[in-house]
Order: sequence, then C-alpha cells, then structure tokens
Amino acid sequence: MRSVLDILDAACRAAFESMGFPAEIGAVRESDRPDIAPFQCNGAMAAAGIAKKRGEKVNPREIAAKAVEILSGNSDIAAIEIAGPGFINLSPSEYLITTRAKALAADAKVGLTAVESPLTVVVDYGGANVAKPMHVGHLRSAVIGEAIKRMLRAQGHTVIGDVHMGDWGLQMGHLISELQSEQPDLPYFDPDITDGYPSEPPVTMDDLARLYPLASNKAKADKARMEASRIATAELQAGRPGYRALLDHFIDVSVAALKIGYGNLGVEFDLWKGEACVDPLIPDMIKGLKAKGITEEDDGALIIRVEDEDESKTVPPVMLLASSGAVLYHTTDLATLVDRKAEIDPDLILYVVDQRQALHFEQVFRAAVKAGWYDREQMVHLGFGTMNGKDGKPFKTREGGVLRLEDLLDIMNAAAARRLSDSGIGADFDAAERAEIARKVGLAALKFADLQNARLTNYVFDPERFTAFEGKTGPYLLYAAVRIKSILRKAADQGVAMGDILVTEPAEQQLVLALDSFDRAVTAASDKYAPHLICDHVYRLAQSFSRFYTDCPILVDGTPEAVKSSRLRLAETTLRQLEMGLDILGIQAPERM
Ligand code: ARG
Repeated sequence: MRSVLDILDAACRAAFESMGFPAEIGAVRESDRPDIAPFQCNGAMAAAGIAKKRGEKVNPREIAAKAVEILSGNSDIAAIEIAGPGFINLSPSEYLITTRAKALAADAKVGLTAVESPLTVVVDYGGANVAKPMHVGHLRSAVIGEAIKRMLRAQGHTVIGDVHMGDWGLQMGHLISELQSEQPDLPYFDPDITDGYPSEPPVTMDDLARLYPLASNKAKADKARMEASRIATAELQAGRPGYRALLDHFIDVSVAALKIGYGNLGVEFDLWKGEACVDPLIPDMIKGLKAKGITEEDDGALIIRVEDEDESKTVPPVMLLASSGAVLYHTTDLATLVDRKAEIDPDLILYVVDQRQALHFEQVFRAAVKAGWYDREQMVHLGFGTMNGKDGKPFKTREGGVLRLEDLLDIMNAAAARRLSDSGIGADFDAAERAEIARKVGLAALKFADLQNARLTNYVFDPERFTAFEGKTGPYLLYAAVRIKSILRKAADQGVAMGDILVTEPAEQQLVLALDSFDRAVTAASDKYAPHLICDHVYRLAQSFSRFYTDCPILVDGTPEAVKSSRLRLAETTLRQLEMGLDILGIQAPERM
C-alpha cells in the first residue's frame, strides 16, 4: 500500500492537472505547521504564475479554491482548507489513516520499500592503520560507514563493506626495523632464509602497539633511524620474503585485534582487505596506464595530470611512483579500484573518510576516469567533520595521547553506568545485566550523538550530554523502545491480545503519520548519504509514541478491550519500526532497563 502522503499527493496532482496545469505543481508535502494540518500543497502559487504567463488573470486563492472544490468529495481527505495567499492545508481521513496503519502493522518491514533497480555498492570505511593507533577519524568513519552500509542494504542494494586497512606505508618499515633491533636473530631478518618461516607470529598486538610509537619517536629525532625504516619499507615493497612474511603476521595480529575492537562497536566488515593486498596489481596497472599515454615523468616521479582542461580548478597531479620508486597512497587507492572492478564490478563506490582527504580522493577519482575504468559518478567521497574535545581540537584522551577505541568505549560505559544508577534504572537487576545495559546505553549514546549531526559538522565529545535520557539522545530512544517492550510484556501477562487497529484520537493519528514517514526518511537518507535523517525519524517516532501513550492509555481499567487491542497493535508496530530504524543506525536496545 502507498503511504498517506503518496495518496494525497496523487489526488492533488490530479486536481491540478485537471485544471490544465502540470501535475508536479500539485505536489503535497509534510506541513511546516503540523499543528494546523499534517500536509500541505503549495501548487496554487506556481499555478497562478503559469496562468499569468498565459495572459489569464487569476490569483492563487482562486486557483486553490478550485482545487479544493475538485477534491472536496475525496473520501481520503477529512479536511481541506485554504490559508494565506493560497496554501492548501490537508488532513487525511480517519479511514485512510486506519487503512494505512493496518497495512503497516501487517508489513514485516513496517513500511520500508526496496528500490526498483538495486545496485552493487562498495562502502570503503573504517580504514584503520595496522599498528598505528586509531583516531577519531577512524571512529567516525566506522560509525557513519556502518550506518550508510545498513541503510543502503535496507533499500535492497547489495552492499559490500571493506575496511581498507592502511598496511603498506612507512609504519611497516618502522615495525620491521624496530623488531629487528629487539630480536635480530629471528629468521625473517636472515637474507639467506627465503621460506619456511614460523607460522606463529613473533609479536602480539601489545608488541605492535609498543613498537610503532617507539620507532616513530626515535625516527623523528634521529635521521639514521628514519633511514633504516625507509629502507625496510622499500625492501618490503620490493618483495623481500622475510619482510613479506612479517607483514603477513602483523596484518593477521592486527586484524584479529581490529575484529574485536570493531566488534565491540557493532561494526562488521565483509572484506578485510587493505593496501598491501593490491600491491601485486601495481606493476600491471602502471604498465596499462603508461600504454594509455596518460602518465608523465616528472622530476623522476611518475605522475598523472588531473587538472581541469580550462585549469579553472587547480588539482595537483596524482603521484603513481615517487622518485625513489616507492608506491604511494594514490597508487594503492588506484590499484584498489582495479581490484574492485575485477572482483566485484560495483556500480558505486562510497568512501567514508575524513573530509581532510577530499583532495586525495578527487585526484584518485579523476585519474580513474582518465584511465577509463569508471565514470565520475561511480565514485563518491563522503567526508565528515571531526569529533572535538572541549578545547575545540580533535578529541584526544585525557593524557593528551591518541585515542584508543577501548578508552573511548570505557569513558562512555562509565558515563552510562553513572547515569543509570543516578536514575535508579536497573537497581534490582544483577551486576552482569546492569553492565550489559550500561554498555548498550553507552554505545547508543556515542553512535547517536555522532550520527544525528549532518556529516560534515564538527561536534564536541560530551559523554554527560550524550548519555542524558531526555532530549535527542541515544538513551532516550533506547528508553522509548524498552518502554514499549515492557508494555507488551505487561499486556501478555494480563492476557490482552493485539487486535484490529482503529485510529480515532489525534495522538493515534499523529503516531500513524510518523510511522507513515519511515520509508521517506530512509529514502532521503540514502539519496543524500545522510544518516541524520534517520535519527530525525526515530526521534520523531519516539516522541509521537510518548504523546500517544500519555493521551491514549492502553492497559488501564476502563479502556474498552477493542481499544486496548488496537493500541497494543500500534505500540507493537511502533516498536518494530523503531528497532528497525535504530538497527540501521547500528544501535541495539536492551530487553529491559
Ligand atoms: N588508512 C587511511 C587513514 O588512516 C584511511 C583509508 C581510507 N580509504 C581509502 N580507500 N583510502 O587515513
């Protein structure tokens, strides 16, 4: 069944068409003044403009009056009124709202529809670097990328999430050379040994986390130490077997740790690829690019020029090979495009990466177009702003060090636990359940606070505000979901069953109209890659439910059985949609709290 808005929209378009105007101008939308009427049509103003051009003299109010006359017999419309210069306010009939409510309740997807032509989409997000600690950019990428992946999936697209780890840069040379100075006798460093290396990794994640900053700090102060890392990187990239074997160990150890870290965040990748795994494709890729005649030698480096023909926008060239012969960030991203074409042949690739990398992607995309691999629209960089500390700078942990995901989650957990005990929530649950609830609340708080901003906005990390149960927060939404779960449990205890929906009260109507807008919200969010529109929707839904629950008691004595059953069905439908919306955002509600 179509949405209430779609049905009113079709009726208004038909009315304007029958008056000799283009149907589009009769479009109906949600009203700016829902207190007056839920929907409005502003077509009369545009129609008057068209009429004037035709030399007719009519004012918008007259046109609106005529439209109202045409629509007056429509059984889907309860009230239709003209306001101001010719706005038409529309209220749907009880019948239409009830019919829609029943359809939503019966629908496993609670109104969500799939697109007609699903695409194959790669979402490149996460982007953690092997051994290097994560920063807020990686956190935001994981949270936003996960939501974008889920919302495109909800729309019926085939979506493949790829973590695209950073595992091919200088950090590898740092690790190799530092490990060598600690354990020079490992077989990986013996140039005479070229295979048969141990299958057990020589390092743990803690070792990697220790070795990298050690090496990187030494190298900053000591040129010779830096040179050792450079040489190790170059030898690794040139294929030295012992170093390749070490790299594989580093990657395995890191992936195992990252799986846990991302897992705690509720972020799951389909592909655990990275920069290193496309390295074998680079020689052929470069040969091909040279053969196309789009590369140039520039001061010993190999580049592709990507500036505009008219040079209106200066975009520096893509660096394929540095003068040292080293492979660069541009090169691995181009090789990844080659790999994705061969392995997946996607219609669309979305890069959820810090806005500060916008130029990098612009360069890479232009080169890929120049190479004839993809059309420009097939590659989209979805940038985002930073999560700042109270000082307005990108958030760091209290010691001023870089962010560790675990620390951040601990901070959120603690804030959530404090909040829960302050509000006496879960006081009679056992410790394990209380901890699990705090974890869910903390995570929901963090994710919702992140996702509810328009992507490019910077925001301030404020665990106290994020974990509040009032206002537009994750915990508020979890609380709304949990409250409905508890109502449903209570109803089951009292033997009240769900039944046929009958919508009469204003609060019931506005709840159904909120439910009605789910599909629109997900579509708009997907079209604009804007998860905050889904946040807006779930928040509106939770608020509508709250009003409904205040005005329309469900389980109290005196409510007729049929009304109880109808309202219970509405509550259950709301819960399903709320949880589906939260799930798209990567947020899970506890069973009770
Ligand atoms: N590892 C990179 C970084 O930490 C992010 C990777 C983003 N994805 C990509 N295809 N370049 O900055």
